[in-house]
Amino acid sequence: MNCLVTGGSRGIGKSTILKFASEGYNVVINYNNSQKDALELEQYIKNNYHVDVICIKCDVSQEDEVKAMFKVIKDKFNTLDVLVNNAGIAQDEPLEDKNSKSFLEVLKVNLLGTFLVSKYALEVMSKGIIINIASNNAYGGIIESCDYDASKAGVIALSHDFAKFLAPNIRVNVVAPGWINTDMNKDLFAEFKKAEEEKIFLKRFGNAEDIASTVFFLANNNYINDAVIKVDGGYGK
Ligand SMILES: NC(=O)c1ccc[n+]([C@@H]2O[C@H](COP(=O)([O-])OP(=O)(O)OC[C@H]3O[C@@H](n4cnc5c(N)ncnc54)[C@H](OP(=O)(O)O)[C@@H]3O)[C@@H](O)[C@H]2O)c1
Repeated sequence: MNCLVTGGSRGIGKSTILKFASEGYNVVINYNNSQKDALELEQYIKNNYHVDVICIKCDVSQEDEVKAMFKVIKDKFNTLDVLVNNAGIAQDEPLEDKNSKSFLEVLKVNLLGTFLVSKYALEVMSKGIIINIASNNAYGGIIESCDYDASKAGVIALSHDFAKFLAPNIRVNVVAPGWINTDMNKDLFAEFKKAEEEKIFLKRFGNAEDIASTVFFLANNNYINDAVIKVDGGYGK
């Protein structure tokens, strides 16, 4: 079984790669900027698991690069069973600092990237599962992340359309994490983080492994389809 995780170099993507490799899947680590992390992860998997692993540099928002990535996957593995669209960026900033360029940058990676990778994945996927990583911000966040929140709501809408179109051979599901301890949140102000922790029923941020285990569960369940699974510890005021 072969699995591609976009943004597999760090954070949730890295944990997901490790989970699938540890369960015997061949893995494709996609990265964009973090080549060193990706190569180290590739080497770690080679040393510790008896699976095939490759690293591919590709900016998921660039159609030519996405096409080229799937050519490499086809040459190496021929088919793909699991696609995890995980690559994502956030650019939290005051509304007055946002502009069309920064807004579109977030949409291009999070939403267009999910679309492009899903579309070209079909060249190597005739059955299996696509799991898209959205966010509970899709249901409402804050003005500073309005671009990110809109992109994640778009990912959920797109996932429903793909689920209907690709059935019955390919299932499509969404995981919508809440606050997870990764680089994405490393610069949060302590006060803001404390206030957010108070809103989480479990009173703590989750870990990347909490998302990786959910993705793996979905990949190995044959009847969950077109679902959005929130993994946020329970969140509300
Ligand atoms: N952490 C949270 O609290 C949280 C909550 C809800 C949803 N999420 C979602 O979970 C996913 C993973 O986030 P994370 O927390 O693990 O973030 P992270 O630690 O910042 O990692 C982001 C990953 O995305 C990759 N990436 C970014 N732009 C890319 C591009 N253009 N092409 C290919 N890869 C790209 C990065 O690769 P390079 O470093 O190689 O560029 C990196 O591997 C994202 O979709 C995020 O929106 C996170």
